[in-house]
Amino acid sequence: MKNGLEDVIAAETQLSDVDGERGRLVIRGVSLDDLVGAQTYESVAALLLDGLLDRRVDGDSLQALLGQARTAVFAHVAAADRSVLALPPVDAMRALIARLPDGEDFDTALRLMAAPAVFLPAILRLQAGTAPVEPDASLTQAADMLRMLTGRLPSAEQTAALDAYLVTISDHGLNASTFASRVIASTGAGLTSSVLAAISALKGPLHGGAPGPVLDMFDAIGSQANARPWLGAALDRGERLMGFGHRIYRVRDPRADALKGALRPLVQTGQVDSARIALAEAVEQAALTILKERKPDRPLDVNVEFYTALLLDTLGFPRDAFTGVFAIGRTVGWIAHAREQALNGRLIRPRSVYVGPLPRAA
Ligand code: CMC
Repeated sequence: MKNGLEDVIAAETQLSDVDGERGRLVIRGVSLDDLVGAQTYESVAALLLDGLLDRRVDGDSLQALLGQARTAVFAHVAAADRSVLALPPVDAMRALIARLPDGEDFDTALRLMAAPAVFLPAILRLQAGTAPVEPDASLTQAADMLRMLTGRLPSAEQTAALDAYLVTISDHGLNASTFASRVIASTGAGLTSSVLAAISALKGPLHGGAPGPVLDMFDAIGSQANARPWLGAALDRGERLMGFGHRIYRVRDPRADALKGALRPLVQTGQVDSARIALAEAVEQAALTILKERKPDRPLDVNVEFYTALLLDTLGFPRDAFTGVFAIGRTVGWIAHAREQALNGRLIRPRSVYVGPLPRAA
């Protein structure tokens, strides 16, 4: 048995390929480098879903339909009562999504892509004691999310940065949450069930729960000079450095550079705290050096979560909401994989090896 199913092939997919040796991510035949900045979230979503649902759309029509779907799901925000709002944002968002009908058609998929983008900003505002902002169907998903979060129209650079983030994280091979989505789809349950299972897998700190702790690490380190001593002490305590290491990548995670690039226009226009960026770069360099010294046999490089933390912080998302924003971007990937599994796959039902006592001994 392979612990953690490492290197086990559990699905055939046309959706994305993660090349861990070369540090390359391909989404439906296009390299991530050629998508980020060139394609909108909506056009990449249309590319991922192409041929998997009962309706085909291009990026422009998906943008319009998503806008309408955001407006339609806004009514569910009223269900965010005190018990829902007492939950961490990603759990509150999951609770509202659980109210949506299940299904396998285009409309269900559309609702599932729109809903978290509306629910998360609304939950954050309600938790902060302010009224939710209604969606504007004429905007892109990225622009509207920021507007619903802050109550103001975002700058072009802010919208482009969030759009680049949503594209960057739209799909990523058979990661834990995507596998969860496919397992659920293989039983014939609907897309809402797949997305709920995927969010539940995503929220763990070894998967999509890392960027909040990355920011905690920046705060704890505080100054460039303190980076190496702080990181060394964390490793001495047996802790893992958040934002580093990956099951598949043996080199730098290409998504980290895509996000670093997405931050650049914000830096150039003075919309980012440059001291924060300098601290992050110092932490990255110190961590890479110290990980090489401490774990010479295991290549450990920066992963997507490191620059996710900086980018989402810069855009005004609170750190406890980062996993929820990750879920908003990844939902289209979960849906595409669920549909691919439902259309081409069989029931996923592996076996376990029994290592407990036999009846006589028990
Ligand atoms: N800091 C320090 N040591 C590490 C780290 C790290 N971030 N990551 C792995 N190692 C060490 C680990 O302790 C182990 O050492 P040893 O063999 O001496 O015990 C060795 O490297 C191999 O670790 P592993 O547990 O086999 O690695 P894995 O493939 O199971 O884990 C990982 C991958 C992402 C869970 C892990 O690198 C980690 O915990 N990173 C920190 C959390 C993090 O940044 N998570 C976000 C992942 S990227 C988002 C996504 O794509 O889902």
